Amino acid sequence: MSGAATVIDRIGLLVTNDPTTGDGPLGIMRDVALVIEDGRVVTIERSGAVGDDRLDAGGRCVIPGFVDSHTHLVFAGDRSDEFAARMAGAPYAAGGINVSVAATRAASGDELRRTAGLRLAEARRAGITTIEVKSGYGLTVDDEARLLTIGAELTDETTFLGAHVVPAEFGGRPDDYVELVCGAMLAAAAPHARWIDAFCEHGAFDADQCRAVLDAGRQRGLGGRLHANQLGHGPGVQLAVELGCASADHCTYLSHADVDALAHSDTVATFLPIADFSTRQPYPDARRVIDAGATVAIATNCNPGSSYSTSMSLCIALAVRDMRMTVDEALLAATVGGARALRRTDVGRLSPGARADAVILDAPSYTHLAYRPGMPLVAATIIGGRQIT
Ligand code: NIG
Repeated sequence: MSGAATVIDRIGLLVTNDPTTGDGPLGIMRDVALVIEDGRVVTIERSGAVGDDRLDAGGRCVIPGFVDSHTHLVFAGDRSDEFAARMAGAPYAAGGINVSVAATRAASGDELRRTAGLRLAEARRAGITTIEVKSGYGLTVDDEARLLTIGAELTDETTFLGAHVVPAEFGGRPDDYVELVCGAMLAAAAPHARWIDAFCEHGAFDADQCRAVLDAGRQRGLGGRLHANQLGHGPGVQLAVELGCASADHCTYLSHADVDALAHSDTVATFLPIADFSTRQPYPDARRVIDAGATVAIATNCNPGSSYSTSMSLCIALAVRDMRMTVDEALLAATVGGARALRRTDVGRLSPGARADAVILDAPSYTHLAYRPGMPLVAATIIGGRQIT
């Protein structure tokens, strides 16, 4: 060991997510210490390692920080009435997005920054160390640029989602709106975004419109992602694969051809189980997708309409309870799966060379994330070797 080091000592059970470092697919090690320099893991030693700074895990379980590859953190307004109506039998529809658009347009930049910051703090307390943030509640040139500017203050993983829904002022003229998204709106958004996304769904955008948006984004150097197959079967998943998107998100309704396309691609199937919970959709059968050989992720999808939560622990519990994932698969999906959905190799694992983004659980094993649903098991969130909560 050389230089100023931080040590996370007395780790009872360490998940490295690196099968070449520890046992099994999760790369498990016991009674060890993580040695960190310059924000990265440098070595893993036996417990009792010496460092300039020391965090004591007290024999508990340490996992890689959660990688949340799908959120909509920047918005204003409240749609709890819509949720209550749904629980009383009303259906979820894409059009509800325009309620948040109106509130977001009316909010000041300071207010949007403050509330998004509070949601990010919640996410950190929930163990999320890498987070993607979409625009999509502005839907004018200036408002989309404004939301992305705020999003870029929170994360490097920002996504332009001008094609979230057709805004009210473009009612009956969706193609004119798509032209705006692909032109002036994209030009204003691109400097603040890494990714481009579109909502491919009945009531939002069709396959041709989504293709036009993602192609325009690609020409500006943005990577593609797609909201696909959330409310019913449709062309979204296969379009995401055809366009080489990093992820197809939701994947609630999958045909055999969709599963086959995902399995033969680099597109990650990203499940958003809290959205299915909060909209009373069926849960996707993740087992079928994993067994076919596709890469899967789970993400919180924090947004005001369909999934107002940053609890990755709840995602894991739902994935295990209702989507036929094993606990190990769900933890992998919430960490290294999310990293793959963002095309990242530096996060989602805790082996030498990785960013030292970790979570100390108030539990002897990660299984408790599903075994103790609803319990606040994140004892500490560590980013770049520094404890932040
Ligand atoms: O991912 N599906 C589209 N976007 C969000 C919902 C947004 C809303 O209802 O406000 C989602 O679920």
